[in-house]
This record gives sequence, structure tokens and C-alpha cells, in this order.
Amino acid sequence: MWLKHLSLTNFRNYARLDLDVPNGLLVITGDNGQGKTSLIEAIYFLSSFESFHAENDRQLINFIAARDPLAVGRIVADFMSDNKLHRLEVRIIQEKENGNGNGRLRKEAIYDGVKQKLSEVVGQIKAVIFLPQSMQIIEGAPEERRRFINLALGQVLPHYSATLSEYARALNQRNALLKQLSERGGDVNELNYWDTEVSQLGARLIQARIHALVELEELASPLYYQLTHEKEMIQLVYQPSYDPLQKPVGQYALPVDIHIDRRGLTLEQIQEGFLLQLKKIRMEEIKRGVTTIGPHRDEILFLGNGIDLGVYGSRGQVRTAILAVKFAEMKWIKKKTGQWPIFLLDEVLAELDDQHRQDLLNRLDEFEQAILTTTDIKLFNPQFLQGLPIWQVKAGQVSPTKAIP
Ligand SMILES: Nc1ncnc2c1ncn2[C@@H]1O[C@H](COP(=O)(O)OP(=O)(O)O)[C@@H](O)[C@H]1O
Ligand SMILES: [Mg+2]
Repeated sequence: MWLKHLSLTNFRNYARLDLDVPNGLLVITGDNGQGKTSLIEAIYFLSSFESFHAENDRQLINFIAARDPLAVGRIVADFMSDNKLHRLEVRIIQEKENGNGNGRLRKEAIYDGVKQKLSEVVGQIKAVIFLPQSMQIIEGAPEERRRFINLALGQVLPHYSATLSEYARALNQRNALLKQLSERGGDVNELNYWDTEVSQLGARLIQARIHALVELEELASPLYYQLTHEKEMIQLVYQPSYDPLQKPVGQYALPVDIHIDRRGLTLEQIQEGFLLQLKKIRMEEIKRGVTTIGPHRDEILFLGNGIDLGVYGSRGQVRTAILAVKFAEMKWIKKKTGQWPIFLLDEVLAELDDQHRQDLLNRLDEFEQAILTTTDIKLFNPQFLQGLPIWQVKAGQVSPTKAIP
């Protein structure tokens, strides 16, 4: 799929923008603080309804427009998907302030003219984002890795995002009850309902992650092997916090680099096992007042030649790994949905050494649409730029320049 037209209203530093977007490769250049990242952020927002860096959606609405208590930020995209033209509009709506500066914010989606639930349209526009901070997926806290897999799965499995939010809600309720039981006592059987909810929803997430990580690894490994000149292998190891696969008796933990195939497990098996485990540790969890197992505590390890890259990887290894993982994510979404996502690369060239930069640029051809930003056009080899559209961004205005012949 590819984005054909983008229009922004009151989004970040764009008061108003209306642009035809070319397919294939597009380079966006401009000095710092002009609006390159905001443009990428707007496109990505259409795929996930989340920003990759706003703490709060309110920051997405243009500062000046936001002085109006009822301001609306708007992203509208016309896009081609399966040779059909569609339109997705997202509105970020500021609602009346409650006096202390915390007015509510509402998001709305309109798909082909019909207002829809966000979770229903998530994944209509597919995008993979690659940023300098993407290295945090490997080097950062476990929640970065869960977020990575959640965002990827959200675009591939229609119900994943909705299940994820229902799980979070059930987990909150269960935690509140655990806390209440621990502080004030009460009937522990009240937990039964939430145990079932958490295990049913959680099992769907676990099962989806089991398959996704095996498939992503299959796609990342040949590329990582090539990029490391056939010296290193990459593995994506899923370590579910509730592990539906029983460990052999007497074994405390399996070595991380052993491949454990959990793909044979059915949803029922995972759910029943999870439920049973929740019952088993119930007293302990009441004491602690919190749910201690489940997909909200899952971990994913990225191993290079069997070594945890998040802990022991060099900068270079982590860069190579994330490059391989991002390409794998592109290919995985294509494989699962039949459609190429839009590849959004914000300022990553400067992060890479010459070799990796070439490795990256040489591989972008196969995608339907890839949008790259850079402050420094000189990072591109002039031959590479030949025939490519280049956009200049300056203070929230975009001027498309003609392709260099
Ligand atoms: N809500 C907002 N309203 C108006 N301007 C904003 C808003 N949020 C960020 N900005 C400004 O938008 C400008 C562009 O930011 P960004 O897209 O990150 O630039 P670039 O990626 O080109 O360096 C910055 O100067 C930033 O301060
Ligand atoms: Mg930027």
C-alpha cells in the first residue's frame, strides 16, 4: 500500500498542509526543527493512532490552534491499497478544559466517509517506523520490546489492538481487587471472574507473540547474517512471563539460546494453563497486591551468536540487528497481509556508518513506498539521488523540488 495524498490541519508545526505524495522513494530534507519528524509522525499516527514520541496526544495539536479550547488537529490520507483508493481521517479533538489545564482529548477516525472505532481501523494504513531511538528496542527496558511487538502485531492481526486494551483493562481491575483483598480482606472468589478474563485475553496475546517472533526471526536472520558478512546469527527469543510450556522437572531455567518451539500449543491450552497458574499463585498475589505473571511482563531477547545484544552487544552490533529487524518487520507485514507497509525512516542515515548506510539504501528498492528524512543530503551518494523526488521542509512548509535528472 502507499500514501497518495496527505493533508494536515493544526498538527504540530503544520497549520495547514496539502500534498501529493509519490510512491517509491521520497527524500525529505531540511534543517533541524523545521517539521521533518512531525511529517513522519503524522503518517505513522495513521497506522497506530499513537505517536512514537508524544507523551500526550495534546502535544500533537498545533500550539497556536490549541489556544482555542475546542481545537482540532486533523490528519487526512488518501491511500492506495489493493489497487483501490481509500481515505482515512483522524481527528485529535481537544475538549473543554476542566479548569486545571487538563481538558480531555478525544480521537476519532473516519474511514471512507464512515466514522469508526479506532481499533476497527488500526492497520488499514500500515507503516514501519525506523528512528534513531529504535535501538532502544534492543537496548532499552522490556516494555520497549513489548511495544515493538504490539505495534507490529496490531497492523497484522485485526483484533490484536482491541485485545491488548481489553487485557490492560482487565488487568487493572484484577490488580485493584488484589490490592483491596490485601488491604482490607474479603471474598477471594471475587477474583474468579478476573482470572478468567485475564487468562482468556492474555492467552490470545501470548499465542500471537509466539508465532510472530518465530516468523520475524526467520526473516531477520538471513539479513543479519549477510550484514555481518556471514559471521553472526541473530535470534529473537520469546520469554513469556507466564510460559505455557512446562519446564522439564528439576530444570530451573533453560539456556536462553535454546530454541523452544511453542507453536504447537492451542489457545485453549495456553488459557487453561494460565488460569491454573493464576489460581496456584493466588495467595502470593493477594499478598503483593498485583498480578505478577502474564503478557504485561513478557520479555523478548535479541541474541547475536547466542549473546544477549541488549546487555553485551556493541553499538555496531545493535545497529546491525535493528536494521535487520526493521527489514524483517517490513517483510513480515507484507507476508501476513499481502501488502507492503510504508517504510518511514527518520534521520537514521546519520546514525549509520558508510557501509550500513549503503546496505540500507540499496535495499529500499523492493518496497512500494519508503520515506526518508535527513538534515544532511550529503549523506546520500549523488547517484542514489538521481531521479528521486526531494522535499524541502522549512518552518512547517513543504516545497517539493523536482527530481534530480
Ligand atoms: N504542537 C506543536 N505546535 C507547534 N509547533 C510544534 C508543536 N510540537 C512541536 N512543534 C515544533 O515543530 C518544529 C518541528 O519539529 P520536528 O518535526 O521535530 O522538526 P525536524 O524533525 O525537522 O527537526 C519544532 O520547532 C517544534 O518545536
Ligand atoms: Mg527530526
